[in-house]
Amino acid sequence: MEARSCLAIVLAAGEGTRMRSALPKVLHFIAGRSLLAHVLAAVAEAGVTATAVVIGPGQEAAAAEARRISPGAQCFVQGERRGTAHAVLAAKSAIGKGPDDILIVYGDTPLIRAQTLSQLRLPLAKGAAVAVLGFRPADPAGYGRLIMAGDELVAIREEADASASERAIKLCNGGIMAFAGANALAILERIGDHNRKSEFYLTDAVEIACGMKLRAVAVEVEEDDVRGINTKSQLAEAEAVAQRRLRQAALDAGVTLVAPETVFLSADTKFGKDVVVEPYVVFGEKVTVEDGAVIRSFSHLVGAHVGKSVSVGPYARLRPGTRLGEGARIGNFVEVKEAVIEAGAKANHLSYIGDAFVGANANVGAGTITCNYDGSEKHRTEIGREAFIGSNSALVAPVKIGERAYIGSGSVITEDVPADALALARARQTVKQGWASRLRGLKLLGKKKAHSRD
Ligand code: UD1
Ligand code: CA
Repeated sequence: MEARSCLAIVLAAGEGTRMRSALPKVLHFIAGRSLLAHVLAAVAEAGVTATAVVIGPGQEAAAAEARRISPGAQCFVQGERRGTAHAVLAAKSAIGKGPDDILIVYGDTPLIRAQTLSQLRLPLAKGAAVAVLGFRPADPAGYGRLIMAGDELVAIREEADASASERAIKLCNGGIMAFAGANALAILERIGDHNRKSEFYLTDAVEIACGMKLRAVAVEVEEDDVRGINTKSQLAEAEAVAQRRLRQAALDAGVTLVAPETVFLSADTKFGKDVVVEPYVVFGEKVTVEDGAVIRSFSHLVGAHVGKSVSVGPYARLRPGTRLGEGARIGNFVEVKEAVIEAGAKANHLSYIGDAFVGANANVGAGTITCNYDGSEKHRTEIGREAFIGSNSALVAPVKIGERAYIGSGSVITEDVPADALALARARQTVKQGWASRLRGLKLLGKKKAHSRD
């Protein structure tokens, strides 16, 4: 059998009023990426053939995020927020292209997995016109209820419109639906707005399909897949679920997490073999950790590549553009940004290395700072291989330190240093014999005078 084509429509036009935030709801983050990015990743992994994203007027940021994650996605603007069915019809031209299946996914349901989306499409191949993901939430408040007659789904009732007996139903609408492309438009265009909120509810599609003698079914899944996010509390709950899943996947892949519940991962964090992560480490987006690396406690990593057998932390901060070569060591209170640290190089204590290149086996002493910013522009620092930067040096960029060169402690380096040279750039030490005791004597004298005035 030939694979069925599938259009995914992601609804993201809601304002997310209940989040009490200026940011559109779908741009809030869990596990290092936006809610919209999570949904688009699941949709892509489920093997859809086309993706449409429906955004609200003026939500250019949501459209930009959609294009960043799925460059092939088509964005549609829902001019007025008139309900979920109205939002789907904003993508009418995509539906009109005649896909075999249509998946409708809410942008505020980020924990959905590709396998669940594929499972939802199965009944369509067997002749169902509508398939709905159902679940039994611990707290059904706010969700639509699924009304079943035997194996058939006959209606979905929104909570605001439900009778007391309907509200008692535990099986709820997960919000994700699949339509057979052949009947989709006919069903969607029949949906009206005769309800409490005067909105066009997508959920009415079920009753309409049944009235057209078409079959609707429910596919029951666990709550975590379809947790909807309307509030900041639900955002925090979803974060907890996402972290639980990511930690489990890392453990299953052989990563040692000494205290898994204290480690925060991103959906795209990548680990090699025999990696050890100590307690209390945060991984932001785009971090790769190669075989045998150790990330010690209280380190924070974003956009960093950690090479083989590297040691990071405790208390290290790796910012975007950091690339650590094999066996490099980044110790406590060291911040690295947009810098390549080659194999075997070390910065073990209290440093800032930004916009820099540090050659293999170079040693960056405690307290060394690359002065990369002059108030308006950023400049680069290059440190040659096997160079030795004495403690508490300030390297004022742009500046190059040659291979194997030696910088005396406390230097302020403003000019390039040739290979194999020694550079000292600090005030000379002066010694005045007996000066301290003379000072003490003067102070004592001062005190006696003060007392004698009383
Ligand atoms: C919806 C369902 C409810 C289900 C719940 C699951 C309807 C009518 N209700 O309720 O049965 O249990 O999801 O989480 O579908 N949106 C638009 N344009 C609009 C309205 C909504 O794009 O005009 C988008 C929102 O951005 C959101 C999604 O559709 O991503 C769902 O809207 P929301 O208002 O959150 O629906 P719920 O009240 O949660
Ligand atoms: Ca919702």
